[in-house]
Amino acid sequence: MDVVRQEALADRVLAKIRSKPGHPFSSVKLARLFKLSEEDLASTLGLLTDWGYKIKADRKGQYTFVSAPDSYLAAEISNKLKTKIIGKRIYAYKSVQSTNTIAIQLASSGAPEGTLVIAEHQTKGRGRLGRSWYSPEKIGLYCSVILKPKFHPTLAPGMSLITAVAVADTIASYGDVEVKIKWPNDVLISGRKTAGILTELSAEIDRTNFIIVGVGANINHKRTDLPEELRKTATSVRIGLNKTIRRVEFLQRFLLNLENEYLVFKRRGLEKCRKKILKYSSLISTDVKLKIGRRTISGNVLDIDRYGRLVVETSGEIKAFNAGEVTTH
Ligand code: BTN
Repeated sequence: MDVVRQEALADRVLAKIRSKPGHPFSSVKLARLFKLSEEDLASTLGLLTDWGYKIKADRKGQYTFVSAPDSYLAAEISNKLKTKIIGKRIYAYKSVQSTNTIAIQLASSGAPEGTLVIAEHQTKGRGRLGRSWYSPEKIGLYCSVILKPKFHPTLAPGMSLITAVAVADTIASYGDVEVKIKWPNDVLISGRKTAGILTELSAEIDRTNFIIVGVGANINHKRTDLPEELRKTATSVRIGLNKTIRRVEFLQRFLLNLENEYLVFKRRGLEKCRKKILKYSSLISTDVKLKIGRRTISGNVLDIDRYGRLVVETSGEIKAFNAGEVTTH
Protein backbone atom coordinates (compact mmCIF):
# COMPACT_ATOMS: atom_id res chain seq x y z
CA MET A 1 0.00 0.00 0.00
CA ASP A 2 1.43 3.45 -0.85
CA VAL A 3 2.13 5.98 1.90
CA VAL A 4 -0.66 8.41 1.02
CA ARG A 5 -3.27 5.61 0.99
CA GLN A 6 -1.98 4.16 4.23
CA GLU A 7 -2.06 7.55 5.96
CA ALA A 8 -5.62 8.21 4.75
CA LEU A 9 -6.62 4.76 5.96
CA ALA A 10 -4.95 5.37 9.32
CA ASP A 11 -7.03 8.55 9.71
CA ARG A 12 -10.24 6.60 9.06
CA VAL A 13 -9.34 3.76 11.43
CA LEU A 14 -8.45 6.37 14.04
CA ALA A 15 -11.78 8.15 13.63
CA LYS A 16 -13.54 4.82 14.17
CA ILE A 17 -11.70 3.68 17.29
CA ARG A 18 -11.74 7.09 18.95
CA SER A 19 -15.49 7.47 18.30
CA LYS A 20 -16.12 5.49 21.51
CA PRO A 21 -13.34 6.22 24.01
CA GLY A 22 -12.59 3.23 26.25
CA HIS A 23 -14.57 0.86 24.01
CA PRO A 24 -12.66 -2.20 22.66
CA PHE A 25 -12.94 -2.84 18.90
CA SER A 26 -12.36 -6.37 17.64
CA SER A 27 -9.58 -6.63 15.07
CA VAL A 28 -11.67 -9.06 13.01
CA LYS A 29 -14.53 -6.57 12.76
CA LEU A 30 -12.20 -3.62 12.05
CA ALA A 31 -10.41 -5.57 9.32
CA ARG A 32 -13.76 -6.49 7.77
CA LEU A 33 -15.07 -2.93 8.03
CA PHE A 34 -12.03 -1.45 6.27
CA LYS A 35 -11.63 -4.41 3.89
CA LEU A 36 -8.13 -5.15 5.17
CA SER A 37 -6.16 -8.25 6.03
CA GLU A 38 -5.43 -8.48 9.77
CA GLU A 39 -1.79 -7.90 8.88
CA ASP A 40 -2.55 -4.62 7.06
CA LEU A 41 -4.78 -3.55 9.95
CA ALA A 42 -1.92 -4.23 12.39
CA SER A 43 0.48 -2.16 10.31
CA THR A 44 -2.07 0.69 10.06
CA LEU A 45 -2.44 0.67 13.85
CA GLY A 46 1.36 0.55 14.05
CA LEU A 47 1.48 3.75 12.02
CA LEU A 48 -0.92 5.43 14.46
CA THR A 49 1.31 4.33 17.32
CA ASP A 50 4.33 5.81 15.51
CA TRP A 51 2.44 9.11 15.31
CA GLY A 52 2.07 9.04 19.08
CA TYR A 53 -1.44 7.64 19.57
CA LYS A 54 -1.78 5.23 22.47
CA ILE A 55 -3.87 2.22 21.50
CA LYS A 56 -4.25 -0.74 23.84
CA ALA A 57 -4.20 -4.19 22.26
CA ASP A 58 -5.46 -7.08 24.38
CA ARG A 59 -5.02 -10.85 24.11
CA LYS A 60 -8.48 -11.27 22.61
CA GLY A 61 -7.42 -9.25 19.57
CA GLN A 62 -9.26 -6.10 20.60
CA TYR A 63 -8.04 -2.54 20.25
CA THR A 64 -8.98 0.33 22.53
CA PHE A 65 -8.18 4.00 21.90
CA VAL A 66 -6.37 5.40 24.95
CA SER A 67 -4.98 8.85 24.14
CA ALA A 68 -3.85 11.22 21.40
CA PRO A 69 -0.47 12.97 21.17
CA ASP A 70 -0.21 16.74 21.49
CA SER A 71 1.23 16.96 17.99
CA TYR A 72 0.25 19.01 14.99
CA LEU A 73 -1.19 16.15 12.96
CA ALA A 74 -3.91 17.05 10.49
CA ALA A 75 -6.30 14.47 11.99
CA GLU A 76 -5.68 15.79 15.48
CA ILE A 77 -6.24 19.42 14.50
CA SER A 78 -9.43 18.60 12.57
CA ASN A 79 -10.83 16.56 15.43
CA LYS A 80 -13.30 18.86 17.21
CA LEU A 81 -12.21 21.95 15.25
CA LYS A 82 -15.23 24.24 15.28
CA THR A 83 -14.33 26.60 12.42
CA LYS A 84 -16.18 26.77 9.10
CA ILE A 85 -13.40 28.12 6.86
CA ILE A 86 -10.04 28.25 8.59
CA GLY A 87 -8.33 24.87 8.83
CA LYS A 88 -10.69 23.06 6.48
CA ARG A 89 -7.56 22.21 4.51
CA ILE A 90 -4.44 21.49 6.52
CA TYR A 91 -0.81 21.02 5.51
CA ALA A 92 1.00 19.72 8.61
CA TYR A 93 4.76 19.21 8.58
CA LYS A 94 7.40 17.97 11.00
CA SER A 95 9.96 20.52 9.88
CA VAL A 96 9.97 23.29 7.28
CA GLN A 97 12.02 26.39 6.62
CA SER A 98 9.05 28.71 7.12
CA THR A 99 5.30 28.05 7.14
CA ASN A 100 4.75 31.54 5.66
CA THR A 101 6.94 30.71 2.69
CA ILE A 102 5.02 27.47 2.06
CA ALA A 103 1.69 29.27 2.47
CA ILE A 104 2.74 31.87 -0.13
CA GLN A 105 3.61 29.10 -2.59
CA LEU A 106 0.32 27.29 -1.93
CA ALA A 107 -1.76 30.47 -2.21
CA SER A 108 0.00 31.40 -5.46
CA SER A 109 -0.96 28.04 -6.91
CA GLY A 110 -4.60 28.36 -5.95
CA ALA A 111 -4.97 26.93 -2.41
CA PRO A 112 -8.36 27.99 -1.03
CA GLU A 113 -9.10 30.56 1.62
CA GLY A 114 -8.67 29.16 5.10
CA THR A 115 -5.84 26.75 4.23
CA LEU A 116 -3.66 26.18 7.29
CA VAL A 117 0.06 25.44 7.10
CA ILE A 118 1.61 24.27 10.33
CA ALA A 119 4.91 22.77 11.44
CA GLU A 120 6.40 21.30 14.58
CA HIS A 121 9.67 23.02 13.81
CA GLN A 122 11.01 25.74 11.49
CA THR A 123 14.60 26.03 10.36
CA LYS A 124 14.22 29.56 8.96
CA GLY A 125 11.22 31.01 10.78
CA ARG A 126 10.86 34.60 9.62
CA GLY A 127 9.94 37.59 11.77
CA ARG A 128 9.19 41.21 10.90
CA LEU A 129 11.89 43.56 9.66
CA GLY A 130 14.08 40.73 8.38
CA ARG A 131 14.43 39.13 11.80
CA SER A 132 14.24 35.41 12.47
CA TRP A 133 11.75 33.57 14.66
CA TYR A 134 13.19 30.99 17.03
CA SER A 135 11.16 27.84 16.35
CA PRO A 136 12.16 24.81 18.46
CA GLU A 137 10.13 21.63 18.13
CA LYS A 138 7.44 20.23 20.47
CA ILE A 139 6.87 23.40 22.51
CA GLY A 140 5.81 26.17 20.13
CA LEU A 141 3.17 27.12 17.61
CA TYR A 142 4.23 28.02 14.08
CA CYS A 143 1.42 28.36 11.62
CA SER A 144 0.24 30.36 8.63
CA VAL A 145 -3.28 30.88 7.37
CA ILE A 146 -4.17 31.75 3.77
CA LEU A 147 -6.92 34.37 3.48
CA LYS A 148 -8.46 35.79 0.34
CA PRO A 149 -10.58 38.75 1.37
CA LYS A 150 -12.00 40.97 -1.34
CA PHE A 151 -11.08 44.15 0.49
CA HIS A 152 -8.72 46.94 -0.53
CA PRO A 153 -5.02 46.23 0.23
CA THR A 154 -4.82 49.26 2.53
CA LEU A 155 -6.96 47.31 5.01
CA ALA A 156 -4.43 44.48 5.23
CA PRO A 157 -2.49 45.88 8.24
CA GLY A 158 -5.70 45.47 10.24
CA MET A 159 -5.26 41.71 9.80
CA SER A 160 -2.21 41.74 12.08
CA LEU A 161 -4.22 43.48 14.76
CA ILE A 162 -7.23 41.18 14.61
CA THR A 163 -4.86 38.19 14.64
CA ALA A 164 -3.17 39.64 17.72
CA VAL A 165 -6.62 39.98 19.33
CA ALA A 166 -7.37 36.33 18.49
CA VAL A 167 -4.08 35.23 20.10
CA ALA A 168 -4.66 37.45 23.15
CA ASP A 169 -8.22 36.11 23.61
CA THR A 170 -6.90 32.56 23.33
CA ILE A 171 -4.27 33.13 26.01
CA ALA A 172 -6.80 34.90 28.26
CA SER A 173 -9.21 31.94 27.90
CA TYR A 174 -6.75 29.80 29.91
CA GLY A 175 -6.81 31.86 33.07
CA ASP A 176 -6.07 35.05 34.86
CA VAL A 177 -3.06 36.59 33.18
CA GLU A 178 -2.03 40.05 31.99
CA VAL A 179 -2.17 39.86 28.17
CA LYS A 180 -1.42 42.91 26.03
CA ILE A 181 -0.99 43.71 22.36
CA LYS A 182 1.97 45.85 21.44
CA TRP A 183 1.15 47.54 18.15
CA PRO A 184 1.43 46.38 15.48
CA ASN A 185 2.00 42.68 15.93
CA ASP A 186 3.29 41.52 19.31
CA VAL A 187 1.39 39.74 22.04
CA LEU A 188 2.83 40.18 25.51
CA ILE A 189 2.27 38.42 28.80
CA SER A 190 3.25 40.51 31.81
CA GLY A 191 5.18 42.84 29.52
CA ARG A 192 7.19 40.12 27.75
CA LYS A 193 6.72 38.93 24.19
CA THR A 194 5.05 35.56 23.81
CA ALA A 195 3.78 35.73 20.22
CA GLY A 196 4.49 37.59 17.01
CA ILE A 197 2.58 37.95 13.78
CA LEU A 198 3.97 38.24 10.28
CA THR A 199 1.33 39.32 7.77
CA GLU A 200 2.35 39.10 4.13
CA LEU A 201 0.34 40.42 1.25
CA SER A 202 0.01 39.75 -2.46
CA ALA A 203 -1.96 42.54 -4.12
CA GLU A 204 -2.54 44.70 -7.18
CA ILE A 205 -2.95 48.45 -6.67
CA ASP A 206 -6.61 48.16 -5.71
CA ARG A 207 -7.17 44.43 -5.22
CA THR A 208 -5.96 41.93 -2.66
CA ASN A 209 -4.92 38.57 -4.13
CA PHE A 210 -4.20 36.90 -0.81
CA ILE A 211 -2.99 37.56 2.69
CA ILE A 212 -0.84 35.19 4.71
CA VAL A 213 -1.13 35.55 8.45
CA GLY A 214 1.78 33.83 10.15
CA VAL A 215 1.76 33.30 13.88
CA GLY A 216 4.66 32.25 16.04
CA ALA A 217 3.95 31.66 19.72
CA ASN A 218 5.99 30.43 22.63
CA ILE A 219 3.61 27.98 24.26
CA ASN A 220 5.25 25.40 26.51
CA HIS A 221 8.71 26.91 26.78
CA LYS A 222 10.37 26.82 30.16
CA ARG A 223 12.71 29.73 30.89
CA THR A 224 15.66 27.54 29.92
CA ASP A 225 14.07 26.77 26.54
CA LEU A 226 14.38 30.44 25.60
CA PRO A 227 17.73 31.50 24.17
CA GLU A 228 19.83 33.43 26.70
CA GLU A 229 19.51 36.70 24.75
CA LEU A 230 15.69 36.53 24.81
CA ARG A 231 15.17 35.65 28.47
CA LYS A 232 14.72 39.25 29.62
CA THR A 233 12.22 40.21 26.92
CA ALA A 234 10.39 37.00 26.03
CA THR A 235 8.13 34.58 27.83
CA SER A 236 5.73 31.72 27.08
CA VAL A 237 2.12 30.88 27.80
CA ARG A 238 3.30 28.15 30.15
CA ILE A 239 5.51 30.54 32.14
CA GLY A 240 2.71 33.13 32.27
CA LEU A 241 0.02 30.74 33.41
CA ASN A 242 2.19 28.34 35.33
CA LYS A 243 0.70 25.35 33.56
CA THR A 244 1.40 23.21 30.52
CA ILE A 245 -0.91 23.87 27.61
CA ARG A 246 -2.24 21.31 25.14
CA ARG A 247 -0.94 22.96 21.97
CA VAL A 248 -3.48 21.40 19.61
CA GLU A 249 -6.30 22.71 21.77
CA PHE A 250 -4.65 26.15 21.91
CA LEU A 251 -4.45 26.13 18.12
CA GLN A 252 -8.12 25.12 17.77
CA ARG A 253 -9.25 27.90 20.12
CA PHE A 254 -7.05 30.39 18.28
CA LEU A 255 -8.34 29.39 14.82
CA LEU A 256 -11.93 29.80 15.97
CA ASN A 257 -11.19 33.21 17.50
CA LEU A 258 -9.38 34.27 14.34
CA GLU A 259 -12.23 33.16 12.11
CA ASN A 260 -14.78 35.06 14.21
CA GLU A 261 -12.69 38.25 14.17
CA TYR A 262 -12.00 37.88 10.45
CA LEU A 263 -15.66 37.49 9.51
CA VAL A 264 -16.56 40.64 11.46
CA PHE A 265 -13.56 42.50 10.01
CA LYS A 266 -14.60 41.59 6.45
CA ARG A 267 -18.17 42.77 7.01
CA ARG A 268 -17.63 45.82 9.16
CA GLY A 269 -13.96 46.81 8.91
CA LEU A 270 -11.81 47.32 11.98
CA GLU A 271 -14.32 49.51 13.82
CA LYS A 272 -16.07 46.62 15.58
CA CYS A 273 -12.79 44.95 16.66
CA ARG A 274 -11.26 48.26 17.75
CA LYS A 275 -12.79 48.03 21.21
CA LYS A 276 -10.84 44.87 21.89
CA ILE A 277 -7.70 46.19 20.20
CA LEU A 278 -7.79 49.23 22.46
CA LYS A 279 -8.62 47.12 25.53
CA TYR A 280 -5.55 44.98 24.94
CA SER A 281 -3.25 47.73 23.69
CA SER A 282 -0.19 48.36 25.83
CA LEU A 283 0.65 51.72 24.23
CA ILE A 284 -2.30 54.07 24.66
CA SER A 285 -1.24 57.25 26.55
CA THR A 286 2.36 56.05 26.55
CA ASP A 287 5.42 58.04 25.46
CA VAL A 288 7.09 56.13 22.66
CA LYS A 289 9.81 56.26 20.09
CA LEU A 290 8.67 55.06 16.69
CA LYS A 291 11.23 53.96 14.13
CA ILE A 292 10.02 54.17 10.55
CA GLY A 293 12.80 53.14 8.20
CA ARG A 294 15.72 55.41 9.09
CA ARG A 295 13.54 58.04 10.77
CA THR A 296 12.69 57.98 14.48
CA ILE A 297 9.99 60.14 16.01
CA SER A 298 9.07 60.63 19.66
CA GLY A 299 5.58 61.24 20.88
CA ASN A 300 2.60 60.17 22.93
CA VAL A 301 0.21 57.49 21.64
CA LEU A 302 -3.36 58.74 21.42
CA ASP A 303 -5.17 55.97 19.59
CA ILE A 304 -5.22 53.12 17.11
CA ASP A 305 -7.54 54.25 14.33
CA ARG A 306 -9.98 52.34 12.14
CA TYR A 307 -7.24 51.57 9.61
CA GLY A 308 -5.12 50.05 12.37
CA ARG A 309 -2.74 53.00 12.31
CA LEU A 310 -0.94 54.20 15.42
CA VAL A 311 -2.04 57.76 16.17
CA VAL A 312 0.74 59.74 17.83
CA GLU A 313 1.00 63.31 19.07
CA THR A 314 4.48 64.44 18.09
CA SER A 315 5.92 67.96 18.24
CA GLY A 316 2.45 69.43 18.66
CA GLU A 317 1.04 67.58 15.64
CA ILE A 318 -1.18 64.50 15.42
CA LYS A 319 0.03 61.90 12.95
CA ALA A 320 -1.08 58.38 12.04
CA PHE A 321 1.45 55.67 11.19
CA ASN A 322 0.88 52.47 9.22
CA ALA A 323 3.97 50.62 10.32
CA GLY A 324 7.07 51.00 12.40
CA GLU A 325 8.87 49.73 15.44
CA VAL A 326 7.90 51.04 18.82
CA THR A 327 10.10 51.35 21.89
CA THR A 328 8.84 52.69 25.16
CA HIS A 329 12.03 53.83 26.84
C1 BTN B 1 7.58 38.88 14.59
O1 BTN B 1 7.32 38.99 15.79
O2 BTN B 1 8.52 39.51 14.07
C2 BTN B 1 6.73 37.98 13.75
C3 BTN B 1 7.08 36.54 13.94
C4 BTN B 1 6.24 35.60 13.09
C5 BTN B 1 6.72 34.18 13.15
C6 BTN B 1 5.78 33.23 12.49
S1 BTN B 1 6.14 31.56 12.86
C7 BTN B 1 5.03 31.01 11.66
C8 BTN B 1 5.19 31.92 10.47
N1 BTN B 1 6.26 31.44 9.62
C9 BTN B 1 7.29 32.29 9.60
O3 BTN B 1 8.34 32.10 8.98
N2 BTN B 1 7.03 33.35 10.38
C10 BTN B 1 5.73 33.28 10.97
